[in-house]
Amino acid sequence: MNEERINSLKPGEARSTGPSVQDILDRDGDNPPAPFRDQSYQYLGSDDLTVDRYICPDYAALEAERMWTKVWQMACREEEIPDIGDHIVYDIVDWSFIIVRTGKDDFKAYYNSCLHRGTQLRPSASEGHTENFRCPYHGWTWSLEGELIVQPCDWDFPHTKDRDFSLPQVQLGRWGGFIFINMDDDCEPLEDYLGVLPAQFESWPMEDRFMSANVRRYLPCNWKVAQEAFIESYHVVETHSQALPMTGDANTQYDIWGDNVSRLYTLNGIPSPHEKNPLSDTEIARMLMAGVGQSPIEGDLVLGPGETARSVYTAALKEDLKDKFGADLSRLTTTEVLDPIEYFLFPNFFPWFNFSLPLVYRFRPDGLDPDKCIMDVMLLHPVPDEGPRPEPAPLTVLGPDDSFSKAPELDQISAIFEQDVVNMPMVQKGMKSSRKGITLGNYQEIRLRHMHQTLDAYLAAE
Ligand SMILES: [Fe+2]
Repeated sequence: MNEERINSLKPGEARSTGPSVQDILDRDGDNPPAPFRDQSYQYLGSDDLTVDRYICPDYAALEAERMWTKVWQMACREEEIPDIGDHIVYDIVDWSFIIVRTGKDDFKAYYNSCLHRGTQLRPSASEGHTENFRCPYHGWTWSLEGELIVQPCDWDFPHTKDRDFSLPQVQLGRWGGFIFINMDDDCEPLEDYLGVLPAQFESWPMEDRFMSANVRRYLPCNWKVAQEAFIESYHVVETHSQALPMTGDANTQYDIWGDNVSRLYTLNGIPSPHEKNPLSDTEIARMLMAGVGQSPIEGDLVLGPGETARSVYTAALKEDLKDKFGADLSRLTTTEVLDPIEYFLFPNFFPWFNFSLPLVYRFRPDGLDPDKCIMDVMLLHPVPDEGPRPEPAPLTVLGPDDSFSKAPELDQISAIFEQDVVNMPMVQKGMKSSRKGITLGNYQEIRLRHMHQTLDAYLAAE
């Protein structure tokens, strides 16, 4: 885009010279569901952000007090606790919660703290199966429903008889096979908080997926530094330049809805607008097909009339996914199968729609240290059309110095994640030498600004 043209536009109106996402969907010609036709960008200002929000302990403490105590946050998948008595411990900042299945379709979430002297009833980050929750210190015991059922030497506690000693609960909500909790007893219902998210996933509900990978990595940076490495495609040109021949990075579509939801919509199977000598569609098709091990099309691929790299690769992916997971994806359109479409729910939850790389991310502070965080990565593949639901993948835990390649279940994504992770401590350290703050692109980095504006609103509220 030339300088004169850019100067004539209002802030936020400029776009990459490449075809838009909507142009390519037109070219696909297979009429994707309405959510993929939505466009919802809004200019939110161009001011710098301060770096204190990433590096200051006081800021992390304020986030804990005013934000983490007020928001709906994804605690686990329902499939992780399939039987009554199965439970999982979800930790956020310095708080810990037990999420337990109490019935075929019932769940409860408790503060993970004994009402006697405060001991954790279950260790942080643990999971298991139990008939009841017995404190390992003095043996006070609660039923799955949270009723105090054993109080050793109860003759010594006559003063507790008229008090409620059932386990305190946090708010619990469910969407798409995910369980969310909220520490605020007066919070808005989860359905309202989710905004457009359920409608966006209507064509293939997240309940109909299973966790084929579940990987946790501890990282040496602020939780927002980590998640902002995955919130825009602007960094692809520098950090993942190997993807440029077949990735529409600079022409990614960014959408924001309300306070809590945003989307990145990148196209696969088209050359980056950065490419000076873009590959032909046939060359892109050959490159993509090489990545599908069980592709039915082999040898020197030639595109037929009306075929594109996107159409032939999508067809191959549908076959490949059917072979691997037994799910018939034939009704899905090209974009639903092929394109990285990443949604965000404030403050830290990233469910992707697409099937070729069906990721979910969650980022959390690790305690109150602003320089540490926890990244959870899941893959949510479709459940088979027939037969039992597959067991969810066991959790793989990686330390800050472990490579994602130690989690083979992540397959070829590991190498891409490693490219992202290398930047993170450089960002965290670099911010501490910053003398100006963070400058953001008006369009490509709108999701960062949107997220920070919602965060600011929580921090400003008393
Ligand atoms: Fe990246």
